[in-house]
Amino acid sequence: MTKKFSHRHLLGIEPLSADDIETILDLAGKYVKQNRSSQRFINKLNGKTVVNTFFETSTRTRTSFEIAAKRLGAEVINFNANVSSISKGETFLDTMRVIDAMQVDAFVIRHQENGAPGMVVPHVQASVLNAGDGSHEHPTQALLDALTIRKHKKRLDGLKVAICGDIEHSRVARSDVFLLNKLGSSVRIFAPPMFMPRDVKQLDVEVAPAMTDALDGADVVIMLRIQNERLSAGEFSMAPAEYHKLYGLDHAKLKAARPDVVVMHPLPMNRGVEITDALADDPKYSLVFEQIEHGVAVRMACLDLVLGAD
Ligand code: NCD
Repeated sequence: MTKKFSHRHLLGIEPLSADDIETILDLAGKYVKQNRSSQRFINKLNGKTVVNTFFETSTRTRTSFEIAAKRLGAEVINFNANVSSISKGETFLDTMRVIDAMQVDAFVIRHQENGAPGMVVPHVQASVLNAGDGSHEHPTQALLDALTIRKHKKRLDGLKVAICGDIEHSRVARSDVFLLNKLGSSVRIFAPPMFMPRDVKQLDVEVAPAMTDALDGADVVIMLRIQNERLSAGEFSMAPAEYHKLYGLDHAKLKAARPDVVVMHPLPMNRGVEITDALADDPKYSLVFEQIEHGVAVRMACLDLVLGAD
């Protein structure tokens, strides 16, 4: 029996309880199995319309949400912000209200502004799911990370997780930190000085002075790319090889972690910069493509629960 889920919207990990998270992960676990079977299409969301509204570029998250909604039998509309009336001066909120007036059931929103999906909620009747807002949250990414970790570690409490790279601009890091803390794991972060989050004191994390300290005894390592699109021209310039030497992950550095460590990355990854080719493709450690598979199942679970909430 599925546990009760009372959220009509999925705006972030922060508003969820540990129970909510487990409910999503348990249902997602069933969808992982279903997606591998020949019965991967069901009609749970028949008659529902899900609108993908992406105001920032995305390949996997948008595709993953679309596949997830279609597997559940929903109709999916992809709204392309670049060819919309936004370019004629319409406000973001008006655009959302216009689509909402067409009697749709859910919005999946990606936006460059922190808090944009939450801003929409009071103005629409549809459910709102956050697919990444600025450097704030990316809840479905954290949930798929958690599903992947739980599969390999059989638990989500008492784990040591290292997150390394551009933490300042990473909504993935924030959502991961919220989720892992809620479920009883501890997070160590390591970032180049200019990518250390300004609000680090508000985050419940240990700041590692060196990469080996972050990796020391880690069960899980999550590597992040530099979010160049959130930097102004020339704000950060370091040769990729130099960055890799100082801040990138390879097999040699990974020796500081536990022997059964797993390596994850939300993608897109810059091979040879934050992670070596050899490690990204090493099936002994790397879970990057499994994360993608789990993304569809997690998004199915989220759409199912949010659209089924009281
Ligand atoms: C992440 C994002 O958009 O925040 N990617 C994703 O969802 N596939 C991470 C990133 O872009 O670096």
